[in-house]
Amino acid sequence: MGSVCKDEREEVIQAWYMDDSNEDQRLPHHKDPKEFVSLDKLAELGVLSWRLDADNYETDEELKKIRESRGYSYMDFCEVCPEKLPNYEEKIKSFFEEHLHTDEEIRYIVAGSGYFDVRDRNEAWIRVWLKKGGMIVLPAGIYHRFTLDSDNYIKAMRLFVGEPVWTPYNRPHDHLPARNILKHLWTRRMLLLLESLLEYVEAFGSIIMITIMSSLVLYCCILRMYVVFVLKYQKTYKNTCA
Ligand SMILES: [Fe+2]
Repeated sequence: MGSVCKDEREEVIQAWYMDDSNEDQRLPHHKDPKEFVSLDKLAELGVLSWRLDADNYETDEELKKIRESRGYSYMDFCEVCPEKLPNYEEKIKSFFEEHLHTDEEIRYIVAGSGYFDVRDRNEAWIRVWLKKGGMIVLPAGIYHRFTLDSDNYIKAMRLFVGEPVWTPYNRPHDHLPARNILKHLWTRRMLLLLESLLEYVEAFGSIIMITIMSSLVLYCCILRMYVVFVLKYQKTYKNTCA
């Protein structure tokens, strides 16, 4: 029986730390043992994700809301497979070059599947597997790359704020402002996380103190009752003996 609180996004979006193997890039490249990454952890890196109704994207109100709230005015489709993409093998290799963009990269998978790899704070590769219905936003400045999986087919909706700029800046391009903005965002998120952790410790500390004080008061009451009882018993015993 599955968990009641299962995140339904995980049915179309999964993420894990990659191994260091140089085998075919289209393979999953799990570590041994597997090390999955939660979608919340991806969000801490600025990688946002949704699960949407890919069969009805034209009338989907949720997609409409996301586009309106984030200003994604531009939209087109990109299909990647050996039959439809000229110089397929060359292109797939170039998509796999580590790069960044100065704007968000937004992809909504309406058919097929593929891997978006992103670097975490410690430069480790996290592989994000997107299937039909999965949508992600990669923040500006994050180093990433893309590859098809072994099914060799993906059709993705590409979204953008205003006129699209797809320029990839291959690594290294650390001097670009987008890189500093991302690092600032990560630091802010870390500080917020630390702050909530301290609040939790503080609240937990108060609960411990209240528990100790209550136990101490209870202990004193029991001790007092015991002393009163013993004194009363001694007095009764002395009176009986006299
Ligand atoms: Fe990209």
